Amino acid sequence: MNEVAKIAFGPIAAPHGGTFVVFVGADLKPGERTRALLGDFAPRIESAAKTAGFKGKTLTALDILEPAGLEAARLLVVGVAPGKDAKPLDFAVLGGFVSGKLGKAKQAAAIFESPAEAWDASAAAEFALGVRLRAYRFEKYKTKKSDSDGNGNGEEPLSVVVGVDDPAAARAAHGAREASAEGVELARDLVNEPPNVLFPESFAERAAALRSLGVEVEILDEKAMTKLGMGALLGVGQGSARESRLVAMRWRGAKTKKAKPVAFVGKGVCFDSGGISIKPAAGMEDMKGDMGGAACVVGLMHALARRKAKVNAVGVIALVENMPDGEAIRPGDILTSMSGQTIEVINTDAEGRLVLADALCYVRQTDNPQFIVDLATLTGAIIVALGHENAGMFANDDELAARLTSSGLATGETVWRMPLAPAYDKLIDSKIADMKNTGGRNGGAITGAQFLKRFVDDTPWAHLDVAGVAMSAPANEISTSWGSGWGVRLLDRLVADYYED
Ligand code: BES
Ligand code: MN
Ligand code: ZN
Repeated sequence: MNEVAKIAFGPIAAPHGGTFVVFVGADLKPGERTRALLGDFAPRIESAAKTAGFKGKTLTALDILEPAGLEAARLLVVGVAPGKDAKPLDFAVLGGFVSGKLGKAKQAAAIFESPAEAWDASAAAEFALGVRLRAYRFEKYKTKKSDSDGNGNGEEPLSVVVGVDDPAAARAAHGAREASAEGVELARDLVNEPPNVLFPESFAERAAALRSLGVEVEILDEKAMTKLGMGALLGVGQGSARESRLVAMRWRGAKTKKAKPVAFVGKGVCFDSGGISIKPAAGMEDMKGDMGGAACVVGLMHALARRKAKVNAVGVIALVENMPDGEAIRPGDILTSMSGQTIEVINTDAEGRLVLADALCYVRQTDNPQFIVDLATLTGAIIVALGHENAGMFANDDELAARLTSSGLATGETVWRMPLAPAYDKLIDSKIADMKNTGGRNGGAITGAQFLKRFVDDTPWAHLDVAGVAMSAPANEISTSWGSGWGVRLLDRLVADYYED
């Protein structure tokens, strides 16, 4: 793992050297304790702000170098004045913002004192989480560690001490978030890896590493999948020189081992060339990220196990490579899925739904879960519909959908519900098989979801189309990573808020 930020909590105290981070509102006055630490310099913030046109607005900062009379080399005055929209302050985003502003700084002390209402331990922990997530870099293949993009920490990690009233309480609140941060970083690492390094077998090995956290990891090879009749998943992988794998990760943290598990299923197409229906060359390299759903599931299972979540959870990832060759499936082929339903392949580039069909059927049969959430970089159509700001959510269960919506809002990993309806179902009926794997251009994300629905029966289920958010997502305050690790925090929160003992 590429850990580039060291975060600690300490008492409220001025730093000796390094960067001093303080918070102000619209009146440009820091909190009382911070003011005491700044001494004679405190009123000078106002005149400096005037010169710079800084008004203390949230997510703006005033950078003062060599502040006279302070032992710090730099004073970073960060605005937290509420805007007109009266949105509550998102402390993870605030931490990410500060982390980004620190730039080449290696050492910083942030006085986590509000200029207005008090900030609690969980706010401090969220702040620290944001600092850490923003500092993430994937530089394992760079022979010279860059210091030109973003933080530019080079070899030396950023070290931030967050000064709070009660460091022990902040540390305790931070514990669960560290588990979640590790999960996000793991997911990002997996998505960022090149496809010659991360292919089904090596991906399965990475998932197997969760055993060290007490997760049971079962790896099905092609022989085992053939036995189970997974013709849809195996069909996708048959044009690749790499073998396919299905991995089931089981965490049993609930009081009773018999409690029905929650289930998460991820699309793990380690590279999607499109197969015989091959994709255009431009941008095809991005299709190494077509396993973002699976990466999220692994990251989530890591987070749950690391924080010893009181829940039984199963994560299933379907790992294949979609390639064209003489063995590859053809448009026109008919595949028989594990469920027994037959599928006419119209377009070999609509492969995600094929691998998920068998993964969904598998988890239902073997684990009898209380619900299933699947994550898949399934369609370009969802990017057309929602851009990179929301994942598309399709659900056959209103309660599960409402919970996902609310956990999304709480973590900033938001979902937008899209429709399912029998009318769309007609678009994927086939003349000669039970269904076909594409329904044409119109409503492309919906027909993808409608297809998956046929493999979950009456199990409460939600499908998250994460094509726009899991990979190649635009940089934001808490991520500059190509692979965003999207969904780990959302689902960790979902479990914590609704499904633990
Ligand atoms: N992996 C792609 C979807 C995708 C596109 C993910 C862009 C991330 C960014 C998926 O397998 C695919 O090729 N979908 C096709 C479906 C079509 C053939 C019905 C698409 O979206 O064009
Ligand atoms: Mn495809
Ligand atoms: Zn794909």
